Amino acid sequence: TAAQEVRLHAVGAFLLSRYQRMAESAEAEQERLASSKALTEWVASALSGLAVAATYGTMFWLITAGHMSLAIAGTAVIAVRTGSASLGALVMNVNQLHEESLYVRDHGRFLTQAARRVIPSGGEPVPEQVEEVVLDRVTYRYPDRDTAALDQVSLTLPMGSVTAVVGENGSGKSTLMKILSGLLLPQSGTLRWGPADITGLYRSQVFERVSLLTQDFQRWPVTAAMNIRLGRPAHAVTPEGLGPSVDYAGAGPVIAKLPDGLRSLLARMFRGAIELSGGEWQKVGLARTHWRSSTSQADGVLIVDEPTSALDPEAEIEAFDRIRRLAAPNRAVVLVTHRMSGVRHADRIYVLNAGRLVEQGTHDELIAAQGRYAAMFDAQAAQYAPAPTPGIPNPAAPTVADPA
Ligand SMILES: Nc1ncnc2c1ncn2[C@@H]1O[C@H](COP(=O)(O)OP(=O)(O)OP(=O)(O)O)[C@@H](O)[C@H]1O
Ligand SMILES: [Mg+2]
Repeated sequence: TAAQEVRLHAVGAFLLSRYQRMAESAEAEQERLASSKALTEWVASALSGLAVAATYGTMFWLITAGHMSLAIAGTAVIAVRTGSASLGALVMNVNQLHEESLYVRDHGRFLTQAARRVIPSGGEPVPEQVEEVVLDRVTYRYPDRDTAALDQVSLTLPMGSVTAVVGENGSGKSTLMKILSGLLLPQSGTLRWGPADITGLYRSQVFERVSLLTQDFQRWPVTAAMNIRLGRPAHAVTPEGLGPSVDYAGAGPVIAKLPDGLRSLLARMFRGAIELSGGEWQKVGLARTHWRSSTSQADGVLIVDEPTSALDPEAEIEAFDRIRRLAAPNRAVVLVTHRMSGVRHADRIYVLNAGRLVEQGTHDELIAAQGRYAAMFDAQAAQYAPAPTPGIPNPAAPTVADPA
C-alpha cells in the first residue's frame, strides 16, 4: 500500500537513510555491550582459572606431602569438575528464571487489563420496545488524552426519527457513535435504552439492536456476498437473498461488473480476486448495514458515520434518500456527515464543537439562529452559488480601465 508514495514522493531513499541511522546506533550499542560482556567474561575466566590452579596446586602439594592418597585426589578431581559444571548450570538457570519472570509479569499485567476491559456477559435484558434512546450529560475521555473527546453531551433519539450529527474534524462525532452503539461506556452521565441504563444491560443484546457503519468499516478479504452477509453472519442467506440489500445500497452495477457477481472474491491477495474502488466499497458497506438492520425486528438504532464520503454526487444524493427511508417505527437512524445537504431533512440536527454540543434543532431553526450550523451550511452552499459568466458585465464588480 505504500508503493505509490514511496515512488512518487521519493520516500524510499529518505526512509532508508533514517533506517541506516537507527541500525547504526543499534549496532554501536551492540558493540558496546559485546565489549563489556567480553571484559566481564575475561575477568570471570581469569578468576576461575586462578581458582582451578589454586585447587589443583593445593591437591598436588597434599599428594606430594603425603596428606592425600592418589585415589582420593582422583575422586576429588571428578568432584571438582562435576561440582563446577553444576554451579555453572545453576547460575544459567537463575539467569533464565529472572528473564522469564519478566515475561510472566507482563503476561500477568495483560491478563489484569484484559479482565478489566472485557465486556461482561450477562445483565438485564434490553427492553423489547423502547420509545427512545437517550444520552444524558455523557462525558468520555480517551485514556491517553488530557481533554475529553465528549463533554457533557445530551441527546435524544426517538424511534422512527432521523437524527443528524455534524461538526468539524475531531469534534467527537465518531466517539459519540461508539458510545451510542455500546462499544464505549460513558465515564460519567448515562445512556438509556428506554428506562434502562446501558451499564446494567446485557451488552451483547445491546449490540444485537445496533447497526453501525463506521468511517473505517472492515473490508473483509472474502466474497462480495460474504462481505454483505457479515453484517449479521448468524443469519443464513444465499447470495440471491442479499438482492434487496444490494439494490438498497445502489451496489447493483458494482456487483454486475464483477466476473462472478456476488460470488467474486474481493481481496487482491488472492489469485483471480478483484479490488473495488473506495466508493464501490462504501456501497458494499452500506449494503452490509442494510442487511443487518433488515434482519432485526426489535427496536434498535442504526448509525451511519460518513457513509457517503467516497460516493459520486448522484450516488450520494440517492444514499441520503435511502438512509432517510430506513427510519422505521422500530428504528432510530443517526447520520454523521460533513455534507450539509444530506442533513437538512433530518428531524433533528445536533452540532458538536470540541466535544461539546453547541447547537440543536431542525434545519430551519438552526439556519434562523445564524450560528455554527448556518455558517457551515452557507460555506458549502456558497461553493455552488452561480459564478458570474465571463463576457457578461457584473454590475457589482469594480470597473478596471482597459490598459490598451
Ligand atoms: N482511539 C482514540 N484514542 C485517543 N484519542 C482518540 C481516539 N479516537 C479519537 N480520539 C480523539 O478524540 C477526538 C474526537 O475524535 P472523533 O474521531 O470522535 O472525531 P470526529 O468528530 O469523528 O472527527 P472526523 O470528522 O474527522 O471524523 C479527537 O481529538 C481524536 O484525536
Ligand atoms: Mg469521525
